[in-house]
Amino acid sequence: MIILYFADIFGKPGRRAVQACINDLIAQHTPDFIIGNVENLAGGRGVNRKTLEELNQMGFSAYTSGNHIWDNKEVYQLLGPETKLIRPANWSSPEGEPCPGKGMIILHRGNERLAVINVMGRLFMDAQDCPFHAVDRLLKEVPPSTPILVDMHADATSEKYAIGWHLAGRVAAVVGSHSHVQTADERILPGGTAYITDVGMTGAFDSVIGLKPEGIIKRFITKRPQPTQQASENPGVGCVVIKVNSRGQAESIERLRFTVKIDAIMQGDLE
Ligand SMILES: [Fe+2]
Ligand SMILES: [Fe+2]
Repeated sequence: MIILYFADIFGKPGRRAVQACINDLIAQHTPDFIIGNVENLAGGRGVNRKTLEELNQMGFSAYTSGNHIWDNKEVYQLLGPETKLIRPANWSSPEGEPCPGKGMIILHRGNERLAVINVMGRLFMDAQDCPFHAVDRLLKEVPPSTPILVDMHADATSEKYAIGWHLAGRVAAVVGSHSHVQTADERILPGGTAYITDVGMTGAFDSVIGLKPEGIIKRFITKRPQPTQQASENPGVGCVVIKVNSRGQAESIERLRFTVKIDAIMQGDLE
């Protein structure tokens, strides 16, 4: 089984970058499942029906997310029982008031099956329930012999490594998202778990994690809120290709990062 996974696909530059290369990636790697993290899909803030449909048309199998999942109010309509969009499984919620959506999806394609789990870290982010306990609970629900991919959406490299080792030999892959910066530490952990701390952003590379630098620099210098704008220059792709054997163990993980040439993608609104 081959899995193609894109970390945070940021706004229109990100969607256009995927569109520009997806056919070549499919031809070259023949993925059985294509997964994308869509917490920044609609203008950098959350996800809506229109932008998700664009990825559906490109052949995506399922979507993970993170702390920006609720930024666009349309998301509540996208989390019904049949949805391919999951949210962090450990999102905190009061007793008797379950969080909308789900944290795991089981995908089927021909004879192939893949469980996708999304959890979120707690260091330097809004505190949530324990991601280690959440993923342990979900693993008990996965049908036997089903390969598992976990998207660990977290800020701290330490927390991502910890969950990688916690799951080593128990899942096919632990892929990191959220930082928007790709790390060059992809490897196979003992027991056949593909691991990378962060797959990096798919979006405008000439940016501060997706936004135009000017407003962000001013925010850091003045320590006051400043208007920010989505960046559009130098769009590129961050993704990984993971090969999983018939025992549900990863045999390889290939990290890809490249820019794409797109003419005038930024005409009109930037959503
Ligand atoms: Fe993000
Ligand atoms: Fe995030």
